[in-house]
Amino acid sequence: MCAMTDSAGTQSFSVAIAGVAGRMGRQLVGAALDSGLDVTGGSEAPASEHLGSDIGELAGRRLLHLKPATDPVSAAGNADVWIDFTRPAATLAALDSLKHTRVRAAIIGTTGFTPAEEAEIARAANGLAIVKAGNFSVGVNLLQALTRMAAERLGPDWDIEIYETHHRRKVDAPSGTALMLGEAAAEGRGKPLSELRAPPYDGPDAKRRAGNIGFAVRRTGGVIGDHEVSFGSDMELLTLSHTALDRAVFAHGALSAAAWAVQQDPGLYNMNDVLGLSGN
Ligand SMILES: NC(=O)c1ccc[n+]([C@@H]2O[C@H](COP(=O)([O-])OP(=O)(O)OC[C@H]3O[C@@H](n4cnc5c(N)ncnc54)[C@H](O)[C@@H]3O)[C@@H](O)[C@H]2O)c1
Repeated sequence: MCAMTDSAGTQSFSVAIAGVAGRMGRQLVGAALDSGLDVTGGSEAPASEHLGSDIGELAGRRLLHLKPATDPVSAAGNADVWIDFTRPAATLAALDSLKHTRVRAAIIGTTGFTPAEEAEIARAANGLAIVKAGNFSVGVNLLQALTRMAAERLGPDWDIEIYETHHRRKVDAPSGTALMLGEAAAEGRGKPLSELRAPPYDGPDAKRRAGNIGFAVRRTGGVIGDHEVSFGSDMELLTLSHTALDRAVFAHGALSAAAWAVQQDPGLYNMNDVLGLSGN
């Protein structure tokens, strides 16, 4: 099915979802079906115990008569958009395979890419409209814009510290969102994060260096995602924070990004582009 607009002006397109049995994969399938989109396929890892399960049932919805495929080309089928919240190696392999499909846009929520892998994604964006975000929630993307603004206005004598808490199963650290916030703070200071990122404070010689941006990580229980950016001077402390209350927030954001991306030319975009917050 092609991306098209129906008589009510609602845009319709079909999606394939990578990692359909994962926490986010199930949310994405559920949110897509609830929005009336066509879910035409999904992928899972070759070692997944869910290869025999129905994609709709995995998401707690109706039977779709679709099982997860292990190769991205079969999973993509006739989809217009590929939505991928998996692991870096799986996402990169899928992007390469999508050249052989009719997918025109990819939404990447996977986190934990190395700089070399980020460059690979940028190359894939020569042929696809890619929206990549460490966090697809509207609130976090606004927090990112506010962080950039505060870092710019408050001079380097204000210490910037970023704290994040996630559930005990999270693999990468600091979270993609924490790094996104760190990049926004560094941008406000006119420098790359690689130059300002403080090493973890640990050991006898762990004093904070002026101007650095520090990260602190907690992993506990079922926390979906808490982020806090603090700006501290000798006399005051300004704290900006965000709490994700439901994992569905990321799925809804990813679907908004998908609806936007199917209408774009190939290129690498982020949630600020989707939300019109770029340059704020
Ligand atoms: N950007 C955001 O807004 C956002 C929000 C939540 C999570 N995430 C990120 O999304 C990713 C997934 O998170 P999760 O909590 O759903 O993890 P998860 O472990 O529950 O799900 C990942 C799924 O991907 C599958 N997978 C692994 N290799 C695969 C392959 N080669 N082909 C197909 N499927 C494969 C796994 O089997 C698993 O089912 C993580 O990187 C996480 O940090 C991003």
